[in-house]
Amino acid sequence: MLNLEFSVAQLIRAAAAARERAYAPYSGFQVGAALLTRQGHCYTGCNVENVSYGLSCCAERVALFKAVSEGERDFEALAVTCGTEDYCAPCGACRQALAEFGPETKVIMANCRGEYRVQTVGQLMPAPFGGKCE
Ligand code: THU
Repeated sequence: MLNLEFSVAQLIRAAAAARERAYAPYSGFQVGAALLTRQGHCYTGCNVENVSYGLSCCAERVALFKAVSEGERDFEALAVTCGTEDYCAPCGACRQALAEFGPETKVIMANCRGEYRVQTVGQLMPAPFGGKCE
């Protein structure tokens, strides 16, 4: 159990369902994410690409921005799946974006069989940009 009644398997299923809605006509690579708040709300995201490739947004950041835009800032876990044999690890930009909201969030990196490994945001992004001169 993650928080309330949400299980890891449920969060991965939510990410897989979101992946079905990926808009990825350029890469053909579909990603889905599901972000669980500590209050038990779940926000999903898929990658959304654009013909001017650089405007494309990753599934993890879509989920994160949806959640933050709804007033959420306190995150328990994020599940991500690419539908591949490999565990799906967030890119560096998404790690930095997640790090903004704390290092404790668990990142559940799933493969196409629903197997997963878990690391915290702090483990995946040990030295995020902090904007300070120390
Ligand atoms: N992508 C994600 O959605 N999440 C990541 O962490 C890395 C990559 C997307 C971006 C692009 O639409 C496609 O996967 C291929 O890179």
